Amino acid sequence: MSKYKQLFRGTAFSSKSSKEIEILKDHLFCIHDDGKIEKIVAPEDADYQVLLDAYQGKDNFYSLAEGQYILPGFIDLHVHAPQWAQSGTALDIPLYDWLNTYTFPLESKFSDLDFAYEVYDDLVRTLLANGTTTALYFATIHKESSLLLARICAERGQRGLVGKVVMDDPEQNPEHYRDADTKAALADTEEFILAVKALSKTVKQGVFPVVTPRFIPSCTDEVLQGLGELAKKYDAYVQSHCSESDWAHGYVRDRFRKNDAFALHELGLLRDKSVMAHCNFLSDDDADLFAETGTAVAHCPISNAYFANSVIPVAHLHEKGVEIGLGTDISGGFSPSLFDNIRQAVMSSRMLEDGVNPALPAEERGVPGSRITVNEAFYLATAGGGESLSLPVGRIQENYAWDVQIIDTKLPSAKLPIFDPNEDLNDVFQKMLYLTRPENIREVWVQGEKVHSR
Ligand code: GUN
Ligand code: FE
Repeated sequence: MSKYKQLFRGTAFSSKSSKEIEILKDHLFCIHDDGKIEKIVAPEDADYQVLLDAYQGKDNFYSLAEGQYILPGFIDLHVHAPQWAQSGTALDIPLYDWLNTYTFPLESKFSDLDFAYEVYDDLVRTLLANGTTTALYFATIHKESSLLLARICAERGQRGLVGKVVMDDPEQNPEHYRDADTKAALADTEEFILAVKALSKTVKQGVFPVVTPRFIPSCTDEVLQGLGELAKKYDAYVQSHCSESDWAHGYVRDRFRKNDAFALHELGLLRDKSVMAHCNFLSDDDADLFAETGTAVAHCPISNAYFANSVIPVAHLHEKGVEIGLGTDISGGFSPSLFDNIRQAVMSSRMLEDGVNPALPAEERGVPGSRITVNEAFYLATAGGGESLSLPVGRIQENYAWDVQIIDTKLPSAKLPIFDPNEDLNDVFQKMLYLTRPENIREVWVQGEKVHSR
């Protein structure tokens, strides 16, 4: 009998810090029955050869081929699961009109469980195929179909954190798509939390309920207060949108005479387990409040390019001690891939730093110190996401979950331009981040189980 559930041999990349990458060249990764990395062994370690001799040739020994590399699975901190059905459409109108004309009518259809199953199952499989092993989802206002999404994550092997969306204000939301009333919104949320907690007991990788006020404009004060109490009672995750666009930010300032961050905090919604999407307009005081409460930001760079009227200052928020991860914001962002969002995060940060208005003199154009490197963007998609959720995911490190994607750089139909067999591994890493396509993602593992292969 072998001691470990699996033994992998290969080269892995993981964040050492938000700016530095650790390269584990030709290491052995020993996976425990519980799906966590029990031990990592370097070629120079005494037991390397002993382990190789014991496992080579066995069914549970996986040796990566030349040109294949291990990356941590990605963590998508902001996905609207129902909106997968409209990804890539209707992106050229302002947020408020987009919500009312396209998004709410689409989301209202998810009372139909057959339709919900079709879209949700396709999305979960698509995200896994794009290397996303953990996802934080907004579902819809419907309790049953939100629970269906949690079940699909459980079955497909993805670590899903799922929220039944709350939008109870009859003044702000259309009649065809809102909670019946405040009491029902709170009761449904509580039942949903209990149902997902019960489901999670049988799920190796875990599924988690998330308290989900859509954003302040769609919720009454009473429901926001009640949701804060539920989050505390069940020590639950919280997600919402915060300071996203000029319009949303301005609405909250008019209603509460303060920024979203302080309003959400007073309502009990900023906690260590809170993740707020976008946050483009955080003031320094808001950022301090995020850092103090452990609230994380889901940075959605593709979506921000369409709806936000702003670029989030990632480097500045990191300096202020705010935790940040990356989100696709399907379908405000059109792509299901965090590779695409890593690329956009770097490009957007450079535009913020360098400025884009050629009418201004060069020295007045941008915001100095804003650019982030591709290593930092990778950190956001992996370790930063794990820290935002306070889960041991996003790093190739002992006691972390074996959540990985195996990238094949030599696939004949999607070969990466690596011509020198001794190319520096830092360069190989950057090429993978910029050029990987779904075809190159050969296998995806979550908690020691293979959940995707091609
Ligand atoms: N604000 C409130 N709802 C939404 C949504 O569905 N997408 C985006 N991008 N912003 C929102
Ligand atoms: Fe969103």
